[in-house]
Amino acid sequence: MEHILVVIYLIASVTFMWGLKMLSKPDTARNGNLIAAAGMILAIFATIFLYKDSEGNHLGNLVWIFLALVIGTAIGWIMAKKVQMTAMPQMVSFFNGMGGACAAIISIIEYNHLNHVLASSTMTPEMAADHHGKIIIILAGLIIGSVSFAGSIIAYGKLEGKINDFSLKGQQIVNIGLLLALLVLSILFYTGTISGSMWFYIILIVSLLYGILFVFPIGGADMPVVISLLNSFTGVAAACGGFLYDNYVMLIGGILVGSAGTILTVTMCNAMNRSLLNVLVGNFGGATASGPTSSTGGGTTKEITRSDAAILMKYAKKVVIVPGYGLAVAQAQHTCHELESILEEGGVEVKYAIHPVAGRMPGHMNVLLAESNVSYDKLIEMEDINPEFATTDVVLVVGANDVVNPAAKTDPSSPIYGMPILEVENAKNIIVMKRSMKAGYAGIDNALFYQPKTYMLFGDAKDTLVKLVNEVKSM
Ligand code: TAP
Repeated sequence: MEHILVVIYLIASVTFMWGLKMLSKPDTARNGNLIAAAGMILAIFATIFLYKDSEGNHLGNLVWIFLALVIGTAIGWIMAKKVQMTAMPQMVSFFNGMGGACAAIISIIEYNHLNHVLASSTMTPEMAADHHGKIIIILAGLIIGSVSFAGSIIAYGKLEGKINDFSLKGQQIVNIGLLLALLVLSILFYTGTISGSMWFYIILIVSLLYGILFVFPIGGADMPVVISLLNSFTGVAAACGGFLYDNYVMLIGGILVGSAGTILTVTMCNAMNRSLLNVLVGNFGGATASGPTSSTGGGTTKEITRSDAAILMKYAKKVVIVPGYGLAVAQAQHTCHELESILEEGGVEVKYAIHPVAGRMPGHMNVLLAESNVSYDKLIEMEDINPEFATTDVVLVVGANDVVNPAAKTDPSSPIYGMPILEVENAKNIIVMKRSMKAGYAGIDNALFYQPKTYMLFGDAKDTLVKLVNEVKSM
Protein backbone atom coordinates (compact mmCIF):
# COMPACT_ATOMS: atom_id res chain seq x y z
CA MET A 1 0.00 0.00 0.00
CA GLU A 2 2.79 2.38 1.01
CA HIS A 3 4.50 1.86 -2.36
CA ILE A 4 1.28 2.49 -4.25
CA LEU A 5 0.86 5.74 -2.31
CA VAL A 6 4.41 6.84 -3.20
CA VAL A 7 3.79 6.06 -6.89
CA ILE A 8 0.51 8.04 -6.79
CA TYR A 9 2.33 10.98 -5.17
CA LEU A 10 4.93 10.78 -7.93
CA ILE A 11 2.22 10.81 -10.62
CA ALA A 12 0.49 13.76 -8.89
CA SER A 13 3.79 15.68 -8.66
CA VAL A 14 4.40 15.13 -12.38
CA THR A 15 0.90 16.46 -13.18
CA PHE A 16 1.67 19.61 -11.14
CA MET A 17 4.83 20.29 -13.15
CA TRP A 18 3.21 19.36 -16.44
CA GLY A 19 0.17 21.54 -15.66
CA LEU A 20 2.40 24.45 -14.66
CA LYS A 21 4.31 24.16 -17.93
CA MET A 22 1.04 24.17 -19.91
CA LEU A 23 -0.15 27.26 -18.02
CA SER A 24 2.57 29.28 -19.74
CA LYS A 25 0.69 29.33 -23.09
CA PRO A 26 -2.89 30.55 -23.57
CA ASP A 27 -3.91 27.66 -25.84
CA THR A 28 -2.77 24.98 -23.35
CA ALA A 29 -3.50 26.82 -20.08
CA ARG A 30 -7.04 25.49 -19.58
CA ASN A 31 -5.95 21.84 -19.99
CA GLY A 32 -2.87 22.48 -17.83
CA ASN A 33 -5.14 23.63 -15.03
CA LEU A 34 -7.33 20.52 -15.39
CA ILE A 35 -4.34 18.15 -15.43
CA ALA A 36 -2.86 19.66 -12.25
CA ALA A 37 -6.30 19.62 -10.57
CA ALA A 38 -6.75 15.93 -11.50
CA GLY A 39 -3.35 15.19 -9.94
CA MET A 40 -4.38 17.01 -6.77
CA ILE A 41 -7.67 15.06 -6.53
CA LEU A 42 -5.73 11.81 -6.98
CA ALA A 43 -3.27 12.78 -4.23
CA ILE A 44 -6.08 13.79 -1.81
CA PHE A 45 -8.08 10.57 -2.24
CA ALA A 46 -4.96 8.39 -2.16
CA THR A 47 -3.97 10.01 1.15
CA ILE A 48 -7.45 9.55 2.61
CA PHE A 49 -7.75 5.88 1.69
CA LEU A 50 -4.19 4.54 1.51
CA TYR A 51 -2.18 6.46 4.12
CA LYS A 52 -1.20 4.50 7.23
CA ASP A 53 0.62 5.85 10.29
CA SER A 54 3.64 4.13 11.92
CA GLU A 55 1.24 1.86 13.86
CA GLY A 56 -0.56 0.80 10.67
CA ASN A 57 -3.75 2.81 11.29
CA HIS A 58 -5.66 4.40 8.40
CA LEU A 59 -6.94 7.98 8.68
CA GLY A 60 -9.93 8.39 11.01
CA ASN A 61 -12.63 11.06 11.06
CA LEU A 62 -13.68 10.28 7.51
CA VAL A 63 -17.11 11.86 8.00
CA TRP A 64 -15.53 15.16 9.04
CA ILE A 65 -12.99 15.00 6.23
CA PHE A 66 -15.68 14.45 3.57
CA LEU A 67 -17.96 17.09 5.10
CA ALA A 68 -15.11 19.63 4.89
CA LEU A 69 -14.31 18.52 1.32
CA VAL A 70 -17.94 18.92 0.21
CA ILE A 71 -18.37 22.34 1.87
CA GLY A 72 -15.00 23.63 0.60
CA THR A 73 -15.65 22.38 -2.94
CA ALA A 74 -19.13 23.94 -3.00
CA ILE A 75 -17.87 27.34 -1.78
CA GLY A 76 -14.93 27.32 -4.22
CA TRP A 77 -17.12 26.23 -7.13
CA ILE A 78 -19.79 28.89 -6.50
CA MET A 79 -17.20 31.66 -6.02
CA ALA A 80 -15.32 30.70 -9.19
CA LYS A 81 -18.54 30.51 -11.23
CA LYS A 82 -19.82 33.87 -10.01
CA VAL A 83 -16.60 35.91 -10.12
CA GLN A 84 -16.28 38.67 -12.70
CA MET A 85 -13.03 38.66 -14.67
CA THR A 86 -12.14 42.09 -13.20
CA ALA A 87 -12.54 40.67 -9.66
CA MET A 88 -10.19 37.75 -10.29
CA PRO A 89 -7.19 39.20 -8.36
CA GLN A 90 -9.23 39.49 -5.14
CA MET A 91 -10.54 35.95 -5.48
CA VAL A 92 -7.01 34.63 -5.96
CA SER A 93 -6.00 36.63 -2.90
CA PHE A 94 -8.86 35.21 -0.82
CA PHE A 95 -8.07 31.60 -1.80
CA ASN A 96 -4.39 32.23 -1.17
CA GLY A 97 -5.25 33.53 2.30
CA MET A 98 -7.09 30.27 3.00
CA GLY A 99 -3.97 28.33 1.98
CA GLY A 100 -1.89 30.41 4.40
CA ALA A 101 -4.43 29.83 7.18
CA CYS A 102 -4.32 26.05 6.57
CA ALA A 103 -0.52 26.04 6.82
CA ALA A 104 -0.66 28.03 10.09
CA ILE A 105 -3.35 25.70 11.51
CA ILE A 106 -1.19 22.66 10.66
CA SER A 107 1.62 24.25 12.69
CA ILE A 108 -0.70 24.91 15.65
CA ILE A 109 -2.03 21.33 15.60
CA GLU A 110 1.41 19.81 15.24
CA TYR A 111 2.81 21.97 18.06
CA ASN A 112 0.08 20.71 20.40
CA HIS A 113 0.64 17.16 19.14
CA LEU A 114 4.37 17.45 19.81
CA ASN A 115 3.73 18.74 23.35
CA HIS A 116 1.34 15.86 23.94
CA VAL A 117 3.93 13.27 22.77
CA LEU A 118 6.65 14.86 24.89
CA ALA A 119 4.46 14.93 27.99
CA SER A 120 3.52 11.27 27.63
CA SER A 121 7.01 9.79 27.13
CA THR A 122 10.55 10.15 28.38
CA MET A 123 12.73 12.17 26.05
CA THR A 124 15.48 10.11 24.33
CA PRO A 125 18.37 11.91 22.50
CA GLU A 126 16.77 10.94 19.15
CA MET A 127 13.46 12.43 20.25
CA ALA A 128 15.22 15.62 21.36
CA ALA A 129 16.87 15.99 17.93
CA ASP A 130 13.60 15.28 16.16
CA HIS A 131 11.81 17.76 18.44
CA HIS A 132 14.30 20.52 17.56
CA GLY A 133 13.97 19.88 13.83
CA LYS A 134 10.20 19.89 14.05
CA ILE A 135 10.06 23.11 16.07
CA ILE A 136 11.91 25.03 13.32
CA ILE A 137 9.48 23.78 10.67
CA ILE A 138 6.45 24.39 12.89
CA LEU A 139 7.59 27.97 13.57
CA ALA A 140 8.32 28.62 9.87
CA GLY A 141 4.89 27.28 8.83
CA LEU A 142 3.19 29.29 11.59
CA ILE A 143 4.89 32.60 10.77
CA ILE A 144 4.85 32.40 6.97
CA GLY A 145 1.32 30.96 6.86
CA SER A 146 -0.11 33.62 9.23
CA VAL A 147 1.62 36.50 7.40
CA SER A 148 0.25 35.16 4.13
CA PHE A 149 -3.26 34.71 5.58
CA ALA A 150 -3.49 38.17 7.20
CA GLY A 151 -1.82 39.95 4.25
CA SER A 152 -4.00 38.20 1.66
CA ILE A 153 -7.21 39.07 3.49
CA ILE A 154 -6.16 42.75 3.69
CA ALA A 155 -5.26 42.65 -0.05
CA TYR A 156 -8.68 41.10 -0.75
CA GLY A 157 -10.40 43.84 1.28
CA LYS A 158 -8.48 46.59 -0.50
CA LEU A 159 -9.25 45.25 -3.96
CA GLU A 160 -12.92 44.81 -3.06
CA GLY A 161 -12.92 48.46 -1.96
CA LYS A 162 -13.81 47.43 1.62
CA ILE A 163 -10.51 48.65 3.11
CA ASN A 164 -8.81 51.93 2.24
CA ASP A 165 -5.06 52.52 1.96
CA PHE A 166 -3.83 53.32 5.44
CA SER A 167 -0.41 54.00 6.85
CA LEU A 168 0.83 55.08 10.24
CA LYS A 169 3.55 57.68 10.65
CA GLY A 170 6.81 55.72 10.53
CA GLN A 171 4.96 52.64 9.28
CA GLN A 172 8.03 51.08 7.67
CA ILE A 173 9.95 51.36 10.95
CA VAL A 174 7.06 49.68 12.80
CA ASN A 175 7.06 46.90 10.17
CA ILE A 176 10.83 46.37 10.39
CA GLY A 177 10.49 46.35 14.20
CA LEU A 178 7.79 43.65 14.03
CA LEU A 179 9.90 41.58 11.64
CA LEU A 180 12.90 41.79 13.97
CA ALA A 181 10.67 40.93 16.95
CA LEU A 182 9.47 37.82 15.10
CA LEU A 183 13.04 36.79 14.36
CA VAL A 184 14.20 37.27 17.95
CA LEU A 185 11.13 35.55 19.44
CA SER A 186 11.60 32.58 17.08
CA ILE A 187 15.28 32.18 18.00
CA LEU A 188 14.49 32.42 21.71
CA PHE A 189 11.66 29.91 21.33
CA TYR A 190 13.81 27.50 19.36
CA THR A 191 16.67 27.64 21.87
CA GLY A 192 14.23 27.14 24.73
CA THR A 193 15.01 30.54 26.35
CA ILE A 194 11.28 31.14 26.19
CA SER A 195 8.88 28.23 26.07
CA GLY A 196 5.28 27.18 26.47
CA SER A 197 2.05 27.74 24.58
CA MET A 198 1.75 31.38 25.61
CA TRP A 199 4.89 32.36 23.71
CA PHE A 200 3.88 30.21 20.77
CA TYR A 201 0.58 32.12 20.50
CA ILE A 202 2.36 35.46 20.98
CA ILE A 203 4.45 34.58 17.90
CA LEU A 204 1.21 33.79 16.06
CA ILE A 205 -0.32 37.17 17.01
CA VAL A 206 2.81 39.13 16.04
CA SER A 207 2.85 37.30 12.68
CA LEU A 208 -0.79 38.17 12.01
CA LEU A 209 -0.14 41.79 12.98
CA TYR A 210 2.88 41.94 10.69
CA GLY A 211 0.84 40.49 7.79
CA ILE A 212 -1.81 43.19 8.27
CA LEU A 213 0.60 46.13 8.62
CA PHE A 214 2.85 44.90 5.80
CA VAL A 215 0.04 45.07 3.23
CA PHE A 216 -1.96 48.04 4.59
CA PRO A 217 0.19 50.91 3.22
CA ILE A 218 0.86 49.38 -0.23
CA GLY A 219 -0.85 51.26 -3.06
CA GLY A 220 -4.07 49.51 -4.14
CA ALA A 221 -2.90 49.18 -7.73
CA ASP A 222 0.27 47.38 -6.61
CA MET A 223 -1.80 44.59 -5.12
CA PRO A 224 -1.24 42.02 -7.95
CA VAL A 225 2.50 42.03 -7.20
CA VAL A 226 1.86 41.70 -3.46
CA ILE A 227 -0.66 38.89 -4.02
CA SER A 228 1.87 37.02 -6.11
CA LEU A 229 4.47 37.48 -3.35
CA LEU A 230 2.02 36.28 -0.68
CA ASN A 231 1.21 33.34 -2.95
CA SER A 232 4.84 32.31 -2.88
CA PHE A 233 4.77 32.61 0.96
CA THR A 234 1.81 30.22 1.08
CA GLY A 235 3.72 27.76 -1.10
CA VAL A 236 6.67 27.81 1.30
CA ALA A 237 4.33 27.44 4.30
CA ALA A 238 2.64 24.43 2.63
CA ALA A 239 6.06 22.92 1.93
CA CYS A 240 6.72 23.14 5.72
CA GLY A 241 3.60 20.96 6.16
CA GLY A 242 5.12 18.50 3.67
CA PHE A 243 8.28 18.31 5.80
CA LEU A 244 6.28 17.77 9.00
CA TYR A 245 4.24 14.91 7.54
CA ASP A 246 7.01 13.47 5.33
CA ASN A 247 4.53 13.98 2.52
CA TYR A 248 6.32 14.28 -0.83
CA VAL A 249 3.41 15.58 -2.81
CA MET A 250 2.71 18.36 -0.31
CA LEU A 251 6.39 19.24 -0.28
CA ILE A 252 6.72 19.30 -4.08
CA GLY A 253 3.40 21.15 -4.51
CA GLY A 254 4.45 23.76 -1.92
CA ILE A 255 7.87 24.25 -3.51
CA LEU A 256 6.29 24.64 -6.96
CA VAL A 257 3.83 27.26 -5.68
CA GLY A 258 6.63 29.02 -3.79
CA SER A 259 8.96 29.16 -6.77
CA ALA A 260 6.26 29.94 -9.35
CA GLY A 261 4.99 32.80 -7.13
CA THR A 262 8.52 34.15 -6.73
CA ILE A 263 9.23 33.98 -10.49
CA LEU A 264 5.91 35.71 -11.25
CA THR A 265 6.66 38.45 -8.69
CA VAL A 266 10.10 39.07 -10.19
CA THR A 267 8.72 38.98 -13.77
CA MET A 268 6.02 41.54 -12.91
CA CYS A 269 8.55 43.83 -11.22
CA ASN A 270 10.89 43.55 -14.24
CA ALA A 271 8.09 44.27 -16.70
CA MET A 272 7.24 47.40 -14.68
CA ASN A 273 10.93 48.23 -14.31
CA ARG A 274 10.62 48.44 -10.53
CA SER A 275 12.37 46.69 -7.71
CA LEU A 276 10.31 44.62 -5.29
CA LEU A 277 11.41 46.97 -2.50
CA ASN A 278 10.00 49.90 -4.45
CA VAL A 279 6.66 48.08 -4.78
CA LEU A 280 6.59 47.27 -1.07
CA VAL A 281 7.57 50.69 0.26
CA GLY A 282 7.16 53.01 -2.71
CA ASN A 283 3.36 53.44 -2.78
CA PHE A 284 3.71 53.78 -6.56
CA GLY A 285 0.26 53.76 -8.13
CA GLY A 286 -1.36 54.70 -4.84
CA ALA A 287 -2.66 57.87 -6.46
CA THR A 288 -4.18 55.91 -9.30
CA ALA A 289 -5.83 53.58 -6.89
CA SER A 290 -7.83 56.43 -5.45
CA GLY A 291 -8.44 58.12 -8.78
CA PRO A 292 -6.19 58.76 -11.76
CA THR A 293 -4.47 62.07 -12.09
CA SER A 294 -5.02 64.15 -15.21
CA SER A 295 -2.48 64.56 -17.95
CA THR A 296 -1.67 68.18 -18.59
CA GLY A 297 0.65 70.33 -20.55
CA GLY A 298 2.03 67.76 -23.02
CA GLY A 299 1.05 69.80 -26.07
CA THR A 300 -1.93 69.61 -28.39
CA THR A 301 -3.80 66.52 -29.41
CA LYS A 302 -5.75 65.75 -32.60
CA GLU A 303 -9.14 64.08 -32.43
CA ILE A 304 -10.50 61.75 -35.08
CA THR A 305 -14.15 61.10 -35.86
CA ARG A 306 -15.48 57.55 -35.73
CA SER A 307 -16.15 57.51 -39.48
CA ASP A 308 -12.60 58.66 -40.28
CA ALA A 309 -11.21 56.05 -37.92
CA ALA A 310 -13.36 53.40 -39.62
CA ILE A 311 -12.12 54.49 -43.10
CA LEU A 312 -8.49 54.41 -41.94
CA MET A 313 -8.84 50.84 -40.66
CA LYS A 314 -11.09 49.50 -43.41
CA TYR A 315 -8.58 50.53 -46.12
CA ALA A 316 -5.49 49.48 -44.18
CA LYS A 317 -3.44 46.41 -45.05
CA LYS A 318 -2.44 45.70 -41.48
CA VAL A 319 -4.04 46.77 -38.17
CA VAL A 320 -2.59 45.99 -34.74
CA ILE A 321 -4.88 46.31 -31.71
CA VAL A 322 -3.22 47.16 -28.39
CA PRO A 323 -5.53 46.20 -25.52
CA GLY A 324 -5.03 47.67 -22.04
CA TYR A 325 -6.71 48.08 -18.68
CA GLY A 326 -9.52 50.22 -20.18
CA LEU A 327 -10.61 47.27 -22.36
CA ALA A 328 -11.10 45.21 -19.20
CA VAL A 329 -12.94 48.01 -17.38
CA ALA A 330 -15.30 48.55 -20.33
CA GLN A 331 -15.68 44.77 -20.88
CA ALA A 332 -15.15 45.53 -24.56
CA GLN A 333 -13.37 42.28 -25.50
CA HIS A 334 -16.31 40.77 -27.42
CA THR A 335 -16.88 43.94 -29.47
CA CYS A 336 -13.14 44.16 -30.09
CA HIS A 337 -13.22 40.61 -31.51
CA GLU A 338 -16.20 41.61 -33.67
CA LEU A 339 -14.24 44.54 -35.11
CA GLU A 340 -11.30 42.24 -35.79
CA SER A 341 -13.55 39.73 -37.64
CA ILE A 342 -15.21 42.40 -39.78
CA LEU A 343 -11.87 43.93 -40.76
CA GLU A 344 -10.47 40.49 -41.60
CA GLU A 345 -13.51 39.71 -43.73
CA GLY A 346 -12.61 42.84 -45.69
CA GLY A 347 -9.06 41.55 -46.24
CA VAL A 348 -7.26 43.49 -43.48
CA GLU A 349 -4.63 41.59 -41.50
CA VAL A 350 -5.38 42.07 -37.77
CA LYS A 351 -3.18 41.13 -34.79
CA TYR A 352 -3.16 41.93 -31.06
CA ALA A 353 -0.05 43.26 -29.31
CA ILE A 354 0.17 41.84 -25.80
CA HIS A 355 2.28 43.62 -23.17
CA PRO A 356 3.24 41.41 -20.19
CA VAL A 357 1.76 43.85 -17.63
CA ALA A 358 -1.13 45.35 -19.61
CA GLY A 359 -4.20 45.45 -17.36
CA ARG A 360 -3.95 44.67 -13.68
CA MET A 361 -3.09 41.00 -13.38
CA PRO A 362 -0.72 38.57 -15.07
CA GLY A 363 -2.13 37.38 -18.39
CA HIS A 364 -5.09 39.78 -18.05
CA MET A 365 -5.34 40.54 -21.77
CA ASN A 366 -4.82 36.91 -22.85
CA VAL A 367 -7.62 35.79 -20.54
CA LEU A 368 -10.02 38.53 -21.68
CA LEU A 369 -9.41 37.96 -25.38
CA ALA A 370 -9.49 34.17 -25.06
CA GLU A 371 -12.87 34.58 -23.34
CA SER A 372 -14.18 36.28 -26.48
CA ASN A 373 -12.75 33.51 -28.73
CA VAL A 374 -9.93 35.50 -30.29
CA SER A 375 -7.64 32.96 -31.93
CA TYR A 376 -4.48 32.41 -29.83
CA ASP A 377 -2.18 32.82 -32.81
CA LYS A 378 -3.35 36.43 -33.14
CA LEU A 379 -2.06 37.29 -29.65
CA ILE A 380 1.51 38.41 -30.28
CA GLU A 381 3.92 38.98 -27.41
CA MET A 382 5.75 42.31 -27.10
CA GLU A 383 9.18 41.13 -28.32
CA ASP A 384 7.63 39.62 -31.45
CA ILE A 385 5.25 42.43 -32.36
CA ASN A 386 7.62 45.38 -31.80
CA PRO A 387 9.56 44.86 -35.07
CA GLU A 388 6.21 44.66 -36.92
CA PHE A 389 4.97 48.16 -36.01
CA ALA A 390 7.08 49.78 -38.75
CA THR A 391 5.01 47.90 -41.35
CA THR A 392 1.66 48.49 -39.60
CA ASP A 393 -0.79 50.94 -41.17
CA VAL A 394 -2.97 51.52 -38.11
CA VAL A 395 -2.44 50.78 -34.42
CA LEU A 396 -5.68 50.89 -32.43
CA VAL A 397 -4.89 51.44 -28.73
CA VAL A 398 -7.93 50.34 -26.72
CA GLY A 399 -7.77 51.58 -23.11
CA ALA A 400 -3.99 51.19 -22.83
CA ASN A 401 -1.70 53.97 -21.67
CA ASP A 402 1.51 53.17 -19.72
CA VAL A 403 2.38 50.17 -21.90
CA VAL A 404 2.64 52.46 -24.97
CA ASN A 405 4.28 55.44 -23.26
CA PRO A 406 7.53 56.38 -25.10
CA ALA A 407 8.78 58.13 -21.94
CA ALA A 408 9.89 54.66 -20.85
CA LYS A 409 12.61 54.92 -23.52
CA THR A 410 13.22 58.64 -23.78
CA ASP A 411 12.77 60.28 -20.36
CA PRO A 412 15.25 59.19 -17.66
CA SER A 413 13.29 61.18 -15.05
CA SER A 414 10.08 59.22 -15.73
CA PRO A 415 9.02 56.66 -13.09
CA ILE A 416 8.55 54.12 -15.91
CA TYR A 417 11.95 54.82 -17.53
CA GLY A 418 13.48 51.49 -18.58
CA MET A 419 10.17 49.59 -18.65
CA PRO A 420 9.93 47.69 -21.95
CA ILE A 421 7.01 49.08 -23.98
CA LEU A 422 5.05 48.39 -27.15
CA GLU A 423 6.73 50.65 -29.70
CA VAL A 424 3.50 51.74 -31.42
CA GLU A 425 5.00 55.13 -32.33
CA ASN A 426 6.76 53.35 -35.23
CA ALA A 427 3.44 52.62 -36.96
CA LYS A 428 2.06 54.83 -39.76
CA ASN A 429 -1.08 55.90 -37.85
CA ILE A 430 -2.05 55.52 -34.20
CA ILE A 431 -5.62 55.79 -32.91
CA VAL A 432 -5.95 56.00 -29.12
CA MET A 433 -9.31 55.07 -27.67
CA LYS A 434 -9.91 56.26 -24.09
CA ARG A 435 -12.41 58.43 -22.23
CA SER A 436 -10.29 61.47 -21.43
CA MET A 437 -6.71 62.70 -21.10
CA LYS A 438 -6.42 61.10 -17.66
CA ALA A 439 -3.28 59.16 -16.82
CA GLY A 440 -3.08 55.40 -16.35
CA TYR A 441 -1.74 53.38 -13.43
CA ALA A 442 1.63 55.15 -13.23
CA GLY A 443 -0.13 58.52 -12.97
CA ILE A 444 1.95 60.17 -15.71
CA ASP A 445 1.39 62.01 -18.97
CA ASN A 446 1.88 60.17 -22.26
CA ALA A 447 3.83 61.92 -25.05
CA LEU A 448 2.39 59.48 -27.60
CA PHE A 449 -0.94 61.33 -27.45
CA TYR A 450 0.69 64.54 -28.76
CA GLN A 451 2.61 63.02 -31.68
CA PRO A 452 1.66 64.08 -35.25
CA LYS A 453 0.71 60.50 -36.22
CA THR A 454 -1.59 60.02 -33.20
CA TYR A 455 -5.37 60.58 -33.26
CA MET A 456 -7.50 60.54 -30.10
CA LEU A 457 -10.90 58.82 -30.21
CA PHE A 458 -12.53 59.75 -26.90
CA GLY A 459 -15.24 57.66 -25.24
CA ASP A 460 -15.89 54.48 -23.33
CA ALA A 461 -14.09 51.62 -25.13
CA LYS A 462 -17.15 49.38 -25.50
CA ASP A 463 -19.48 52.14 -26.62
CA THR A 464 -16.94 53.49 -29.13
CA LEU A 465 -16.10 50.03 -30.48
CA VAL A 466 -19.81 49.20 -31.01
CA LYS A 467 -20.22 52.40 -33.04
CA LEU A 468 -16.97 51.78 -34.90
CA VAL A 469 -18.13 48.27 -35.86
CA ASN A 470 -21.36 49.76 -37.24
CA GLU A 471 -19.39 52.36 -39.21
CA VAL A 472 -17.16 49.67 -40.78
CA LYS A 473 -20.23 47.49 -41.52
CA SER A 474 -22.00 50.37 -43.26
CA MET A 475 -19.10 50.99 -45.70
P1 TAP B 1 -3.07 52.00 -17.78
O1 TAP B 1 -1.76 52.62 -18.01
O2 TAP B 1 -3.53 51.83 -16.38
O3 TAP B 1 -4.13 52.88 -18.60
C1 TAP B 1 -5.44 52.47 -18.75
C2 TAP B 1 -6.18 53.56 -19.48
O4 TAP B 1 -7.48 53.04 -19.74
C3 TAP B 1 -6.37 54.83 -18.67
O5 TAP B 1 -5.51 55.85 -19.09
C4 TAP B 1 -7.85 55.18 -18.84
O6 TAP B 1 -7.97 56.48 -19.39
C5 TAP B 1 -8.35 54.14 -19.84
N1 TAP B 1 -9.69 53.65 -19.49
C6 TAP B 1 -10.18 53.33 -18.28
N2 TAP B 1 -11.47 52.97 -18.39
C7 TAP B 1 -11.78 53.04 -19.70
C8 TAP B 1 -12.96 52.78 -20.44
N3 TAP B 1 -14.10 52.37 -19.87
N4 TAP B 1 -12.94 52.97 -21.78
C9 TAP B 1 -11.80 53.41 -22.40
N5 TAP B 1 -10.66 53.68 -21.75
C10 TAP B 1 -10.65 53.49 -20.42
O7 TAP B 1 -3.21 50.56 -18.47
P2 TAP B 1 -2.16 49.70 -19.28
O8 TAP B 1 -1.61 50.47 -20.43
O9 TAP B 1 -2.85 48.40 -19.52
O10 TAP B 1 -0.96 49.50 -18.29
C11 TAP B 1 -1.06 48.69 -17.14
C12 TAP B 1 -0.41 49.38 -15.97
O11 TAP B 1 -0.74 48.65 -14.79
C13 TAP B 1 1.11 49.42 -16.09
O12 TAP B 1 1.61 50.61 -15.55
C14 TAP B 1 1.52 48.23 -15.21
O13 TAP B 1 2.82 48.38 -14.69
C15 TAP B 1 0.46 48.30 -14.12
N6 TAP B 1 0.28 47.02 -13.40
C16 TAP B 1 0.06 45.90 -14.11
C17 TAP B 1 -0.04 44.71 -13.43
C18 TAP B 1 -0.25 43.47 -14.23
S1 TAP B 1 0.31 42.10 -13.63
N7 TAP B 1 -0.85 43.50 -15.38
C19 TAP B 1 0.02 44.66 -12.05
C20 TAP B 1 0.18 45.86 -11.36
C21 TAP B 1 0.31 47.04 -12.05
P3 TAP B 1 -9.34 57.30 -19.21
O14 TAP B 1 -9.59 57.37 -17.77
O15 TAP B 1 -9.03 58.61 -19.86
O16 TAP B 1 -10.38 56.53 -19.97
